[in-house]
Order: sequence, then C-alpha cells, then structure tokens
Amino acid sequence: MSEPVVAIVYHSGYGHTKVQAEAVLSGIHEVSAIEGLLIQVEHVDEHWDELDNAAAIIFGSPVYMGNVSAAFQAFAEKSSKRWFESKWKDKLAAGFVNSGSQNGDKSQAINALFTLAQQHGMIWVGLGHLPGNNSSTGSINDINRLGGFSGAFAQSNVDQGSEVVPPEADRRTAALLGKRVAEAALRWTRGA
Ligand SMILES: Cc1cc2nc3c(=O)[nH]c(=O)nc-3n(C[C@H](O)[C@H](O)[C@H](O)COP(=O)(O)O)c2cc1C
Repeated sequence: MSEPVVAIVYHSGYGHTKVQAEAVLSGIHEVSAIEGLLIQVEHVDEHWDELDNAAAIIFGSPVYMGNVSAAFQAFAEKSSKRWFESKWKDKLAAGFVNSGSQNGDKSQAINALFTLAQQHGMIWVGLGHLPGNNSSTGSINDINRLGGFSGAFAQSNVDQGSEVVPPEADRRTAALLGKRVAEAALRWTRGA
C-alpha cells in the first residue's frame, strides 16, 4: 500500500512564497511514512488525481492587495469541479501566507484559504504553536515571530530576494506546519 500523501498547492509570483512552500515540504518529510507533494497552481491540471487521493492538502499564497493572489484564486475556482462531487470532503487542510508588510492583511488571506477548505468540507489544522517575539525576551528569530494561529505566516522584505527572505524563523515556522499536518494525516488515515 502506498504512503499517505500530504500535498501543497501554492502560488508564488516572485519566489518568496515558493521558499515557504519548500519549507512546509521539508517539515512533511520529517515524518516517515508520509509522502509530500509540491504543486504550483500553474501546473495543477496535471495533478488533480493526486489531490483527490491525498490525505491532506495545504494551501499557500502570497498576499496581493490584501487577499490571496489572483492566480491562487483561479485555482480555487477551478477546484469547484471537486466541490460538486465532495471529492475533498473530510481531507485535512491547512494554509500558509506570506506578505511584504509585517501585518499586510495576512489574516484576510488565510481566512480565504480557510473558507476554501470549509467549502470543500475539509478539516482545518492550525499551526499549534504559541506566538514568539511578543515579550521582552522574545526576538524576530523566534518560531512564529508573527504570532499567527490559523496557519503559518511569513513576511518577506519587499527589497530582498527569496534567497534571503522570508527569514529563517518563518521557514522553521512553515516546516512546523508541514510536520504537524503530516503527523495529523498519519493519525487520520490510520484511524488512531
Ligand atoms: C500585486 C501585489 C500586491 C501586494 N499586496 C500586498 C499586500 O496587500 N500586503 C502586503 O503586505 N504585501 C503585499 N505585496 C507584497 C508581497 O506580498 C510580497 O512581496 C511577497 O513576498 C510576494 O510573494 P511571492 O514572491 O511569492 O509572490 C504585494 C505584492 C504584489 C506584487
């Protein structure tokens, strides 16, 4: 029997959210007996069957004009074909977003991902980590430095390339989301 798959479907216009997606994948790979699959929204048409068979789907988008990007939303609308047949019902779901500003209206974008998952009848997995960087002893190097709960948040300075940002703390935060979803997918598929 093949291993349960945790798929990541994401958009990245300029590479920053791609780095975050790859960090989520690295977290998935920390869990043995789970396979990770990275899909760019531009290539989703080659992957619908894999998505239909996945145990979990993690959605990811940059924040563009206070919401998910148009390219991500195009994928969301394409997924309505799955919605008609409840194909993704009872799969696990999670999300990650990346913006240029510290806040940047990331919550609006993560809520769009959450709503998409709920429309499909999926079961949402949050980050599950306490916020960092919120006390006198905290720092921007803390895991969950941006204090998100509903998913993995990242921030990428707009004048820096994806080889530098999002910073290591956000990459580790993203990896923790991937690991958490993979562990949940194991429990979910084994019925434990
Ligand atoms: C069209 C557009 C709109 C943007 N809107 C926002 C925004 O509303 N809030 C924000 O913080 N950053 C915004 N940004 C900055 C991006 O979120 C940021 O540069 C991000 O790292 C881009 O990710 P990507 O390289 O994966 O596309 C915007 C960038 C673009 C190109």
